[in-house]
This record gives sequence, structure tokens and C-alpha cells, in this order.
Amino acid sequence: MTIFNATTENIERATQCLKNGGLVAFPTETVYGLGADASNPDAVKRIFAAKNRPENHPLIVHLASFEQFDLWAQDIPESAVVLAEHFFPAPLAVILKKRPEVSETVTGGQKTIALRIPNHPVALELLRAFGGGIAAPSANRFCRISPTQAQHVADELGESVDMILDGGACQIGVESTILDLSGDKPTILRFGQITRSELEFVLQTKVCTPDSLAKMTVKTAGMMAIHYAPTTPAVRCDSELLAVLLQDENQKVGVLTCGSNISSTQNRTVISLPTDSTIYAQNLYAKLRELDALNLDLILVEQPPQSEMWAAINDRLSKATRYD
Ligand code: TXA
Ligand code: MG
Repeated sequence: MTIFNATTENIERATQCLKNGGLVAFPTETVYGLGADASNPDAVKRIFAAKNRPENHPLIVHLASFEQFDLWAQDIPESAVVLAEHFFPAPLAVILKKRPEVSETVTGGQKTIALRIPNHPVALELLRAFGGGIAAPSANRFCRISPTQAQHVADELGESVDMILDGGACQIGVESTILDLSGDKPTILRFGQITRSELEFVLQTKVCTPDSLAKMTVKTAGMMAIHYAPTTPAVRCDSELLAVLLQDENQKVGVLTCGSNISSTQNRTVISLPTDSTIYAQNLYAKLRELDALNLDLILVEQPPQSEMWAAINDRLSKATRYD
């Protein structure tokens, strides 16, 4: 699979590929997306096949501007307008009622649709050149770690993608915040860099969180227990337990620290991440991927802080690891 630099010429080539029903992986500020023409059900089905993702898991449709939201959604609430003015383009996907003519292939059978304007120059140039909506889940195989570099996409999906546009490493590193605006109360379906407090501040109203989601019926892939997971067993532990577990030098372990100073030994590969949530998020998936490639017995992940800035990271870690 060839990786293409995101030159204007290659973005034009990618646009043609999308128009012909092809699959184009492209960078966003969060993670790499696996894109297809959202208005072409056959192209959208190729996404599900390439990822091995069940067809009832809805996709996010990416757009270049808020004006285009009307083509995909109806009864757009004032809250969406307020969020658009304040944030877009942003790592924030909003769920709205879909227009009846929008195919349920892209919404996984839902009557609602997730829309997002990514804040990345390459993604925006591609979206403007293409003109329509690009359906794009993270460009990883189902339930695996999302890609934050072009090479990760090639490693994950190989020949099933027609083109990979390289925009370097993603700035944010974890997927967008998803906010459901289709019901009575704004509800966060997935934590991301934009926090609940920021949303509540901008909307001037209470925002519900996944604690109250147990009763929900909508399929959100990110809400499944095993998601974003490395193939090596991974365990989260606090720094005290980490010190105890590291006394056993027989197992081949990888350690992802968060602040602690631990050195590598013959059987132990340590990757250190700082207690800065922005830098931690940027690196998390790439570092888990690196450790996962080493054929280790176990990956130990030092538990990061629990404050709101870390909500997206702790959410992803809770799905990638067990907690001991
Ligand atoms: O940061 C991101 O959002 C990345 C980049 C590529 O934009 N995309 C991404 O897509 O993470 P994906 O498909 O991996 O995750 C989208 C999540 C899924 O968990 C899906 O179930 C949920 O959004 N979703 C999409 N449409 C929905 C809907 N109508 N109702 C509820 N959940 C929905
Ligand atoms: Mg995903």
C-alpha cells in the first residue's frame, strides 16, 4: 500500500478516488479516518468490510462547513448552532436527526446521524475538494487501536485501502467527543478532548454523561467493553502495585508509565509518558502499538490522574486494559 504525501495533486487524486467509490485514509486532528463517499452506500459498505466492522455500527459523516449540515440532518437544534459557532472545526461530533433521504447504510440503521467538521488542514482541503460528506470511522480494524500515523493505517488495513494521505502524526491522538443532540438533553456518548465542562459552559446547560447510558439502545462501538485494545494482555495499575509487579523479572513486560521514573531491563521495555494529558493523549496509541509489536507477555499501564482533563484517556484505557 502506497502512502501519499498530502500535496494538492494527491488530494485531487484522492477526491477522484472517493468519487469512484474508493476508500481513502486521511489525517484528522484526532486520529486517521478511513473515508468513503457518504452518499454512496456501496462505497460505505466497503468501509465496514475493510474494518471487519458490523454494519449496524454507525459512521461519522465529515463535512467542510456547518452550512452543509442541513443536507444531512433535520430539526437542527439551536444548541448545534451555538456549538458550531464556538468550536467548529473541532474534535467534536454531534448526533442529530437524519434527513429521511440519507441512507441508513451510513447510519447503521439509526434515524440519527453523527456529523463532524475536522480541524485539520488536509482533511478540510480534501472535504472542500470533494464537496460532499465523507463517512470516516477510525482507520483501524474493528476493536483495535486507532491509527495516529499514516504507517499505522498501512499496517492495520493494507491493500483494502485505495490511498493513504499522509499528514504526519495526529495532534490530539484520541477520537473526538461525541455529543448526542437528538434527544431531550445533550448527552456525551464518547469522551474526547472537548470536556463536559467546556460543553456545559458554552451551552449554558447541564450535559449528561455515559454513566446514565446503560439504558441506551443505540449502538456506539466506542461503548463496547473491548475496544481500542492491543493484542497483548494489558493491565492498568497504580504506581505502588506497578513497583510490586515489576519485581517479577521472569515475564517479558512492557511498561507505559505516567510520570514514574522506571528503567528498562533485559525483560522489561519501558516507555515513559508525562503527566501532561495533552502530550499523553498524543502519544498513547502509538506507544501502545509499539509495545504491542514486541511480543510481550504483558503490558503494564501506570494509571494516570483521574481529573476531567484525563477523561478521554481514562475511558480509552479502561477499554484497552483490565484494572488490577
Ligand atoms: O475522532 C473521530 O471521531 C474519528 C475521526 C476519523 O474523525 N472517527 C471515529 O469514528 O472515531 P468511529 O467510527 O471509529 O467512531 C464513531 C463512533 C462510533 O462509536 C459510532 O458508534 C458512533 O460514533 N456513532 C456514529 N453515529 C452514531 C449515531 N447516529 N448514534 C450513536 N452513535 C453514533
Ligand atoms: Mg473507531
